Amino acid sequence: MKSKVVVVIMMLGAGMVCMKTGATLAEASLKNPVPGSVQRGQKIYMNTCLTCHQADAGGVPGMTPPLQKSPYVQGPPVKLIGIVLNGLNDGVEIEGETYTNPMPPFSTVLKDQEIADVLTYLRSHFGNKAGPITVAQVSRIRKGLTNN
Ligand code: HEC
Repeated sequence: MKSKVVVVIMMLGAGMVCMKTGATLAEASLKNPVPGSVQRGQKIYMNTCLTCHQADAGGVPGMTPPLQKSPYVQGPPVKLIGIVLNGLNDGVEIEGETYTNPMPPFSTVLKDQEIADVLTYLRSHFGNKAGPITVAQVSRIRKGLTNN
């Protein structure tokens, strides 16, 4: 019963995302990853994210937050894609630990396909269980950037 309520709330949240961007983000993220995306994403993770977030995605206490079972990684695609494109300097709290170091933006470092791949990899590994991110989703969010 409780899990049904949670699912309904999540679906409502995803619906709002769709209305905002005028795109079918929820639909896309329910599909299976496109072939090769996870494998490419793993390489991008190792080259680009691992230095800070660590090989096991466990982060560094007090410095870099974990990407294991992360509510951000498994959360709404709009917010997650935005973090990778624009960086993050909001301060995050995960499992009682707070993190205040800034994360740099990757909008000029990674292509839309690369961001889709690395997030698809993350969302299906390290205890995360969320649907894939598509290149179309990343392109739409990137177009919404005012500083790009
Ligand atoms: C230079 C170090 C650094 C690199 C490289 C880096 N991050 Fe981060 N990341 C951080 C820090 C620090 C935060 C916390 C920012 C804050 O507190 O506002 C963060 C936060 C996050 C978050 C939200 C919080 C969480 O733990 O879920 C996500 C998602 C994320 N990073 C994904 C990535 C991905 C994907 C890459 C590779 C493309 C990456 N990061 C590369 C330092 C980094």
